Amino acid sequence: MSDETLSNLLKEDRRFEPPAEIADNANLKAEAYDRAKQDREAFWAEQAERLDWSQKWDRVLDWDDPPFAKWYVGGTLNAAYNCVDRHVEAGRGDKVALHWVGEPVADKRDITYAQLKDEVSQAANALVSLGVQTGDRVAIYLPMIPEAVVAMLACARIGAPHTVVFGGFSADALASRLEDCQAKVVITSDGGYRRGAPSALKPAVDEARAKAAGQGHTVEKVLVVRRTGQDVAWDDDVDVWWHDAVGAASTDHTPEAFDSEHPLYVMYTSGTTGKPKGILHTTGGYLTGASYTHWAVFDLKPETDVYWCSADIGWVTGHSYMVYGPLANGATQVMYEGTPDSPERGRWWQIIQDYGVTIFYTAPTAIRSFMKQGREIPDRFDMSSLRILGSVGEPINPEAYVWYRHVIGGDRTPVVDTWWQTETGSIMISPLPGVTAGKPGSAMTPIPGVSAEVVNEAGEPVPNGSGGYLVLTEPWPSMLRTIWGDDERFKDTYWSRFAKEGFYFAGDGAKKDDDGDIWVLGRVDDVMNVSGHRLSTTEIESALVSHPKVAEAAVVGAKDEDTGQAVCAFVILREEAGDGGDDIVAELRKHVRKEIGPIATPRQIMIVPELPKTRSGKIMRRLLRDVAEHREVGDVTTLADSSVMDLISQGIDSGK
Ligand code: WT7
Repeated sequence: MSDETLSNLLKEDRRFEPPAEIADNANLKAEAYDRAKQDREAFWAEQAERLDWSQKWDRVLDWDDPPFAKWYVGGTLNAAYNCVDRHVEAGRGDKVALHWVGEPVADKRDITYAQLKDEVSQAANALVSLGVQTGDRVAIYLPMIPEAVVAMLACARIGAPHTVVFGGFSADALASRLEDCQAKVVITSDGGYRRGAPSALKPAVDEARAKAAGQGHTVEKVLVVRRTGQDVAWDDDVDVWWHDAVGAASTDHTPEAFDSEHPLYVMYTSGTTGKPKGILHTTGGYLTGASYTHWAVFDLKPETDVYWCSADIGWVTGHSYMVYGPLANGATQVMYEGTPDSPERGRWWQIIQDYGVTIFYTAPTAIRSFMKQGREIPDRFDMSSLRILGSVGEPINPEAYVWYRHVIGGDRTPVVDTWWQTETGSIMISPLPGVTAGKPGSAMTPIPGVSAEVVNEAGEPVPNGSGGYLVLTEPWPSMLRTIWGDDERFKDTYWSRFAKEGFYFAGDGAKKDDDGDIWVLGRVDDVMNVSGHRLSTTEIESALVSHPKVAEAAVVGAKDEDTGQAVCAFVILREEAGDGGDDIVAELRKHVRKEIGPIATPRQIMIVPELPKTRSGKIMRRLLRDVAEHREVGDVTTLADSSVMDLISQGIDSGK
């Protein structure tokens, strides 16, 4: 973000006080901040009481061997029991857990907690009969259908950590994740619906399985949900239909209690190197964090609220705020399979109207695209049920915040801008809807129980009005425990930069305003944020370089009005490739799509004769970002060859 944008942001002085009804009945009031500060562990112990433990912990936090934390030491529990069975046992079995809305308009299904319990139990029994044991990893590659939730909870129920891979990822990306966590079973479907048409998923699993086999890893079974009815290739030794295996299984399954630190799931996310990181979350602390924050930040009233988070289960938001948080809290929620504009552009608002959604959680990129389409579309619907709106994934620009509050929320609804990460497991910095006077564009303050700071290079807190690095200064229950199979990378990535202070380095830059409120500015490392999805520059560079015509590639995230950032690539072709041919750009875009997936497709690929490098050979992405954002190119004095930038600009001007 440029200094100019930043100072404009900080001139933003609109404030939105919490509405009286929300303030009066708020789940969490202002006193909680102090209470948590006075005795952080007692506060987190109180939050863990939200869950049902088979055996209570004897120590809240074990931080004897930082950065390896253990929370609720000695406690045992079952996450699926907490999300499903206990609500049924408490007499709420007939309550709707999921209002599932398929993309095809007539396709919908309400699932009660009692039904969910039966299905999760059946799926757990089916997984066991397929040979899955406690501790085995199960990959899930599914569209947004109820079976995705059932599959995750079934894994949790038997203590088999799941790794959900977003359905938009390619076969190659899936294969590398299967290998990295050595998944024994994959749960997928024939396909899913995307913009009105069936789109296949199973072929990518077949390809990924073959690829993993080539690397010496065998996926033993593939459990296939029939969703679209399209033809699929079938291997009788491996493939099993969900409706056969799960359909025939018993609805009785006794959940076993696992250690609080038993692995719950691995979620892959992009880092600064080419290899995605498997973020490990464990059971007791994670579920406490997800449940507490979902209740506090959205002020959830499970009896009356209808909650909807538009995220896909393939991302951490779908894990914490569609599966574990809301279900642990016994909420009623909407789950939608499709895109916002199918079959028409008012689809989301139609869903809010039809189900009387009261709490809605989405991403700034979606809000900006609705803004662009104009308010006439949402204005056609009655959305007076809404009482709280949430935003996540990237900084929300004040205009989008105000539009969201005004047009979607009818000026009644607080907007909670929630900052967190795959690694943090749950929301860390956010307004509280009944307490905070919201400022458009600011995530405001760490929630009770969480301690964050903005620090300078030396790890010292910056004064109000200044910027620096965002850090978390105390451990928290839903923190990642490690990177799957790579403790060293875990220490290096998050704990080495401020090792002396013992701070968790989030990788984001932030600023404190004159009141000390936090404005998150975006990544300070080689990680991009495109439509709220995290992408690694290095990962896309590796994908480009794997193309036979490419000699070298550099990728930067350039500011983009719709997607926040967009992928821009600078590519040097191999000599023997000549000018690459007329379709070289299309060919390379397609290649990235195949290697990683459509979300990583560069908006722009520029074929250049050279790349700007320092004398030690490091690519100066800052200069490339200047080119991609059409700015005058900054200081080039540290370049090994300062004429390189001229060459690049000439090359781009001549259209090559
Ligand atoms: C990165 C984490 C957390 C779920 C979605 C993304 C950016 C996230 C905000 C926000 C400013 C935000 C940060 C962060 N980010 N929320 N409210 N304001 N930036 O999870 O893929 O792990 O990405 O998203 O840069 O580090 P993720």
